[in-house]
Amino acid sequence: MSAPAITAAVARLQAGALVAFPTETVYGLGADATNPRAIAAIFARKGRPHDHPVIVHIAESAELAVWAREIPAAAHLLTQAFWPGPLTLILRRTPRVLNEITGRQDTVGVRCPAHPLALQLLRAAAAAGMPGLAAPSANRYGQVSPTTAAHVREEFGPTLLVLDGGACEVGIESTIVDVSGAAPRILRPGMISAAAITAVLQRPLSAERADAPRVSGALAAHYAPRTPLQLVPTRELAAAISAANVRAATVVLVTYSSSLSHAGQTLILPATPAAYAHEIYAALRAADALGVDLILVEAPPADDAWSALEDRLRRAAHGARGDRDPLSRVEVARHTV
Ligand code: TXA
Ligand code: MG
Repeated sequence: MSAPAITAAVARLQAGALVAFPTETVYGLGADATNPRAIAAIFARKGRPHDHPVIVHIAESAELAVWAREIPAAAHLLTQAFWPGPLTLILRRTPRVLNEITGRQDTVGVRCPAHPLALQLLRAAAAAGMPGLAAPSANRYGQVSPTTAAHVREEFGPTLLVLDGGACEVGIESTIVDVSGAAPRILRPGMISAAAITAVLQRPLSAERADAPRVSGALAAHYAPRTPLQLVPTRELAAAISAANVRAATVVLVTYSSSLSHAGQTLILPATPAAYAHEIYAALRAADALGVDLILVEAPPADDAWSALEDRLRRAAHGARGDRDPLSRVEVARHTV
């Protein structure tokens, strides 16, 4: 990206405006993390409830101390192993962290992303007196996260400045690890797996969930297209298509292994988890845009490497609204899982 584009983006951020930027996971809707009015604009533009905290993005690990008052050994190990990269840490916050960012919690989520353009922007912002950018995924609340600049424009229209860094390499949101408590625990699975995190920490993760802070990604209904979506085991796909045919419902099939022929369209995704993750959100958007009655998604293998993808697809199935087919309308759950 040219220096003038970065300079223009930084000027907007300094003026309290929002700038969308690419990360290796998904595009973020960024604002100066020290400006409460800019943070408020993120929530307004996304339509996101105010008690859902946003992640602060930083250019390097050294800046963590600006935001976190305690950096436990686990945090050091994880940042050394995975930053810059698709990992967010939840830490006890410093007093300067705005309540608008944390949803009034005593913790803050921080991430150093690996996308070169994100790092260029974060460094330029830091040099201009903005030590971090608050950025949720650049989608309206509850919608599928954007993995291209075009997706962001679909969500927010032409008035938003979007830095175009191409398609996001990872394709689903970062793994979130809470290191603010007695034992580290995963709040949101991602392509950095539990096994990889455990290997670095050399200790088991806490499985505890009862006192989990509010995490919008932990709502059962999230990452959802508008079209009803069903997650179907491979061996039940043919029956699911027949059942849709009986109801005269039009179907798009999203598959990685099936060669079933049927009357509707089929979107074929790669059969390896990393390549699948890279394409899944674009595929869900494309499937949604076809205007069919039902998106049938082949359930991924029950394998650790696929677990973050299974998580996102399960939420998409739960959250998809039955706009076009009242028979399959799904109650949108508002409880944490
Ligand atoms: O990959 C990602 O993490 C992307 C890119 C843009 O960095 N960002 C992202 O942000 O997915 P968002 O806001 O869509 O999801 C961030 C998640 C939310 O579920 C939020 O509730 C959680 O992080 N979170 C942020 N701060 C937290 C905190 N202090 N405690 C618990 N959860 C927190
Ligand atoms: Mg999000």
